[in-house]
Amino acid sequence: MTGGTSFSVEPKHFLQSGIFNQTLRDWHGLNYEISAKNLMYPVFIVEDDNAVQPISSMPGISRFGINKLKEHLQIAVENGLSSVLLFGVIDSLTKDDNASNADSKMNPVIRALPKLRTWFPNLTIACDVCLCPYSSHGHCGILRQDGTIENSASLERISDVALAYAMAGAHIIAPSDMMDGRIGAIKAKLIKNDLGNKVAVLSYAAKFASNFYGPFRDAGKSKPAFGDRKRYQLPPAGAGLALRAAQRDVDEGADMLMVKPGTAYADVLRRIKDAHPDRPMFVYQVSGEYAMILAGAKAGAFKLRPVLMEMLGGLRRAGADVIITYFTPLILEWLKPKN
Ligand code: PBG
Ligand code: ZN
Repeated sequence: MTGGTSFSVEPKHFLQSGIFNQTLRDWHGLNYEISAKNLMYPVFIVEDDNAVQPISSMPGISRFGINKLKEHLQIAVENGLSSVLLFGVIDSLTKDDNASNADSKMNPVIRALPKLRTWFPNLTIACDVCLCPYSSHGHCGILRQDGTIENSASLERISDVALAYAMAGAHIIAPSDMMDGRIGAIKAKLIKNDLGNKVAVLSYAAKFASNFYGPFRDAGKSKPAFGDRKRYQLPPAGAGLALRAAQRDVDEGADMLMVKPGTAYADVLRRIKDAHPDRPMFVYQVSGEYAMILAGAKAGAFKLRPVLMEMLGGLRRAGADVIITYFTPLILEWLKPKN
């Protein structure tokens, strides 16, 4: 064995020569950085204006009444928070077949919107639109007698709810119900009401019937009373359906597209981004992913920060422009310039 330069087998291509210090390494990933603009923060709003209700399956996350949400968001906004996704949760208001309280005057999101717009004028506000948190059966659309989805009645109702949120001040309507044709129905109603160029539509285009939504259904009190969501959310193996859904929603006028959940669907994210490179692409790192990452860190399997940043970087590399994550306030703390 001879050493140094006389070693007979030299590699033809050197990779190590391009990564021997941090600046060189950074150059390989400039398109996948995480900044405040790449993050959207999902929040749960309840009826009781002064409530703070910790969610046991999502340590560190609470449902907030609007007054407490103000304090909570204040800090994040000071740290650069640029957008939120609002979910309403009801307890004492009634749930019925028509999800009447999705857009009633008492709805916590409808009540919060004008306040949030005033308090945080630079914050972009998206609203999840769905019937499941407000329907007696906990399904995302209007049902027939036999418990199946009545699609056209669902479109009528969901587009009404979308319009109500838009009129109350939402910048972005994000329908998560997975009814067929909802993007077109919502767009048409917005345009008819002169909101066509004031409100964007973010489609949960590729939303899979996932086992990662469990903690959210506790948080949102939106579990289906019977059955499951497999007749409208996509089957996990259905990458082809996801591509068709994205194409359909683009044709119907979606401004932005989303894949949900994130980690297990990074291939779908990449394929949809490649098929629709001209639309901002969102990915939702959902409640079960949040709980899983936190539990791993808590169990000592890894450190939270480097693992989370690696996973977020992976979602960016897979094609996400914006990541919807419950970790947003924490990441914004990390990103704060130190002085
Ligand atoms: C309701 C809705 C769900 C999520 C967002 N909107 C749950 C579901 O479809 O069952 C999941 C979000 C999460 O798990 O963080 N339509
Ligand atoms: Zn729903």
